[in-house]
Amino acid sequence: MKKIEAIVRKEKFDDVIKELEDMGIGGVTVTEAVGFGHHRNGLKPKMKIDIYADEFTVDKVIDAIRKVAKTGTTGDGKIAVFSIENIIKIRTGDEGASAI
Ligand SMILES: Nc1ncnc2c1ncn2[C@@H]1O[C@H](COP(=O)(O)OP(=O)(O)OP(=O)(O)O)[C@@H](O)[C@H]1O
Ligand SMILES: [Mg+2]
Repeated sequence: MKKIEAIVRKEKFDDVIKELEDMGIGGVTVTEAVGFGHHRNGLKPKMKIDIYADEFTVDKVIDAIRKVAKTGTTGDGKIAVFSIENIIKIRTGDEGASAI
């Protein structure tokens, strides 16, 4: 299992979410953020999207975000991938991939 953490432009956010919904992923968590990258022209508003995915889905999620969020100009954002030790679904007690 992986956590995919994507930082995207605000103006691309709706399109990214629609693409993820259309893929049928289990869920997302969204945080409004500000940040800077290589070009230090102050903090810019960004959206951070966290997604838990199993090993079979992770590359598809990354490809979908890259396809929709890219403008090709500076500030498109980044995608980070983390390994997850466990996920626990609070309501049912399911653990691991079946908790996604
Ligand atoms: N090293 C970093 N650590 C954490 N967040 C980062 C980092 N670099 C960029 N970000 C986040 O990503 C957002 C967009 O970054 P951006 O795409 O400008 O990255 P960049 O590395 O400067 O690339 P670019 O060449 O496209 O400008 C930033 O506003 C910030 O929120
Ligand atoms: Mg930048």
